[in-house]
Amino acid sequence: MDVNGKIFKKFLERQQMFESHYDAKKQHSKGKLTARERIEILYDEDTFEEIDAFVSSAKSDGEFGRVTAAYGDGVIIGHGQVQGRLVFSYAQDFNVMGGSLGSVHASKIMKIQDMALKMGAPIIGLIDSGGARIQEGVASLAGYAGIFYRNVQASGVIPQISVILGPAAGGAVYSPSITDYVFMTNKTSYMFVTGPNVVKEVLNEEVTFDDLGGAEVHAKKSGVAQMIFEDEENTLLGVRRLISYLPSNNLENSPEIELSGEDETQDVEEKLRDIVPDDPNKPYDVKDVIELLVDKRSFYEISERYAQNLVVGFGRLDGKVIGIVANQPKVLAGTLDIDSSVKGARFVRFCDSFNIPLLTLEDVPGFLPGIDQEHNGIIRHGAKLLYAYADATVPRITVILRKSYGGAYCVMNSKNLGGDFNFAWPTAEIAVMGPEGAVAILYRKELTEAEDPVMLKKQLAVKYRDQIANPYISDEKGFIDEVIDPAITRKKLKSAFLALENKYMTNPSRKHGNIPL
Ligand code: HXC
Repeated sequence: MDVNGKIFKKFLERQQMFESHYDAKKQHSKGKLTARERIEILYDEDTFEEIDAFVSSAKSDGEFGRVTAAYGDGVIIGHGQVQGRLVFSYAQDFNVMGGSLGSVHASKIMKIQDMALKMGAPIIGLIDSGGARIQEGVASLAGYAGIFYRNVQASGVIPQISVILGPAAGGAVYSPSITDYVFMTNKTSYMFVTGPNVVKEVLNEEVTFDDLGGAEVHAKKSGVAQMIFEDEENTLLGVRRLISYLPSNNLENSPEIELSGEDETQDVEEKLRDIVPDDPNKPYDVKDVIELLVDKRSFYEISERYAQNLVVGFGRLDGKVIGIVANQPKVLAGTLDIDSSVKGARFVRFCDSFNIPLLTLEDVPGFLPGIDQEHNGIIRHGAKLLYAYADATVPRITVILRKSYGGAYCVMNSKNLGGDFNFAWPTAEIAVMGPEGAVAILYRKELTEAEDPVMLKKQLAVKYRDQIANPYISDEKGFIDEVIDPAITRKKLKSAFLALENKYMTNPSRKHGNIPL
């Protein structure tokens, strides 16, 4: 080809016009990066290949002005390598009609969704959008519906991640909410279904974007966002890290890594013997236990700020990925409530979809009591966690660290719920209910007649702990496989997960179960 000729010149002109179309200044002035800069951070250097860069919608000079959003119609789509593995992406460009979604924009996203599903590789959406493009009317809504449909078809087949890096308004919120993980950047991103203008119109209330759904709100209160970071760069690096724990699709296993000398964790760790305090009512931080069990620096917590009474996240044992679900005695005494049940259920479901073995660390006095919880449906929400565990066919191991009372015993991956290995530390307390509640029921008459009921209750509680609420009874009945020395927990877990490595089971054939949504 003649590189100085007319045809090649046209090619270069087109490239230049296209590049100049991305206005970095405007985005930077809002503390945001451009769609292209984001892709550069997300992907391994020089690996991203854009497709359909010049696809644009038909121009029209109708009553509402130009419909076209010029080159690319405000969204970049393509593929490349993240940590050396194939990943598909789309990145919306707020500078083009507010990243709004018209029919061509939607078709491009659907095209990349279809490719990701066909190739069995994760898809990451970088979202910065004013929602359905108003000028295109129903075509925009149809575009969103097509994207949601594909999100649902791909759910549990390939990992889907949404990264909110600006507004996600109206229709822009529902695709992320179907995907597996939502990342947000603090202060510059927000998600809402109906904006401040609608709130003012309908409810006559003044609210800001942040009130409605800034990153903090969605990470702490609504639970919509699992991961938040202080700037875009760290948000995108966080996504890269998450990808390293995930398989490319539901037929693969997560990638294993070779441990370098400094990442090796010792298999026998005496510090574990001292973590659970002698006083059964004294809290401790279950994350200290996790850190001592998994490979060094491998614990990656998910939904850190939401429902902190349950800790979930990924870690590695000798380079192999596991999902961890752990009650957190430091928050609400580790009780299970509505939010933590839903958080745990969603995480268990994700791990089960993607062949990630599950480790449960249990210290739970029961479900959180009270009118608020009952009226808001702890029964059906708690059932989600129980259902998710019982339905999971991946290897499942539980270690009871301390309390395992009542319904919570059943729920937290108990043996009869399908737990493969269930271990307990000597500090475990396993019973229908805690000592105080139990003796109050069993010895009501004696306690009302006693001269010193407080002292009697204390004595009875000690007796109850010794005779009923200990791990040895469960061990002797086979509900626990072994009471283990806390110091050798990592060693036990390694050999137990190894024994389960080829676990293969399927649930009865059916269209799908009916999880209590
Ligand atoms: C067309 C849009 C747009 C939209 C923004 N723009 N949103 N164009 N359709 N939905 C355009 C603006 O006209 C403007 O164009 C440019 O994008 C930048 O917008 P600004 O308002 O100047 O930016 P900012 O002040 O940062 O505010 C961003 C915003 C605001 C919060 C997103 O634009 C906004 O409230 N947009 C509407 C959000 C919304 O209600 N969407 C819901 C649509 S209904 P110029 O030419 O001036 O640069 C929906 C339903 C789908 O999505 C339901 C499916 C389940």
